[in-house]
Amino acid sequence: MKIISPDYILTPDTLLKSHAIAFDKTIQKIASLDTLKKEFPQAKIIKLQKNSLLMPGLINAHVHIEFSANKNQLSYGDFLTWLYSVIEGREELLSECNLTCMSNAIDAMLVNGITTFGAISSHGMDLKACENAKQNVIFFNELIGSQASMADALFSDFLSRLDASKAIRRKGFYPAVAIHSPYSVHPILIQKALQIVKNEKLKLTAHFMESEAERNWLDSSSGDFKDFFSTFLKQDKSISDAKEFLGYFNGYETLLTHAVKTNDEELDQIARQKHTIIHCPISNRLLGNPALNIKRLNEKNIRWIVATDGLSSNYKLDLFEEMKISLFMHSDAPLLQFAQELIKGVTIHAAEALGLNTGEIKEGKNADMLVLDLDAEPNKELTIHLILHRYNISKVFINGKLEKGNE
Ligand code: BEZ
Ligand code: FE2
Repeated sequence: MKIISPDYILTPDTLLKSHAIAFDKTIQKIASLDTLKKEFPQAKIIKLQKNSLLMPGLINAHVHIEFSANKNQLSYGDFLTWLYSVIEGREELLSECNLTCMSNAIDAMLVNGITTFGAISSHGMDLKACENAKQNVIFFNELIGSQASMADALFSDFLSRLDASKAIRRKGFYPAVAIHSPYSVHPILIQKALQIVKNEKLKLTAHFMESEAERNWLDSSSGDFKDFFSTFLKQDKSISDAKEFLGYFNGYETLLTHAVKTNDEELDQIARQKHTIIHCPISNRLLGNPALNIKRLNEKNIRWIVATDGLSSNYKLDLFEEMKISLFMHSDAPLLQFAQELIKGVTIHAAEALGLNTGEIKEGKNADMLVLDLDAEPNKELTIHLILHRYNISKVFINGKLEKGNE
């Protein structure tokens, strides 16, 4: 047992003062330091500097580790231009990112306070790096392929990657499933994969309504995707529409990434089915896609969380940076309230969406915790300043183990 006694604790619902935490792998008790010392006399006490703040570890539910080699190879500003550059640069980018490159990206997330991440794995090349990661990992094996003729081969490749991830047995590692998107996965494949998700109770995610091009292609087989599909896939019609695609996910609480071009009918269905939307503001901006209409999600009571996406559409894997960009992007949102929602979107709401016992400083939760060195006593506007100042993160605990900093 260890006892940590920070000056302040952000739970994140409330700010506690003069409380300490007794923890092993989980948070055992929150009380005054004196009470905890009496109850756990053997516990090691971790001393902290003035104005220390303890908060839950951050959760990045959507990142593509395999594409971590990208610096300036991919073209930004327009979704289809980016996608063409991915297809052209894919082999080189993947081969440039060896185990060290992927582990560096994962370690950078740890330094940035990310204690849990959802890896969207296209090829399974990131399995070893994710197995070795200090963080909790939801390993989303991605299924892709719109051509019926390729379905069997693609599904057996997907199954073998899923099996490989199921063979990893370590605490905090969860094999899971990603359906790439409505335009890129054949309905037969989707239904086969969802059967496995249901039988094995796996976590599930998909990209959804990321671009104007996707909207037009799914609605009327027109727009920027027309040339793309006829050139690369010899298709002149979309394989399904958005309504049909969303329908497959009824009964599965799914994390839908981007959703910046969803219409009202789709949002109503997302609300009814209790899906979560993953907001990746930097990726949306860089790929020429619109900003997520968060006001509309709040009106419809749809849970939304914040993630970085991969280095294929970002310049760092840092949720503090991501929240800051979102704060400025949504310039008509009430500042303090929105900052609080953003902090919840990388902690408690992300944990709820992923069904994980973390994201909150509360007795019984996993001890995934950060210590930040504030530069002054916090006030009512703490969440704004957390997002603005990117305070030093001096300690990171994951399942109670110190993974960054000194005890
Ligand atoms: C496909 O494999 O069918 C596909 C991949 C990327 C975009 C669209 C389709
Ligand atoms: Fe993505």
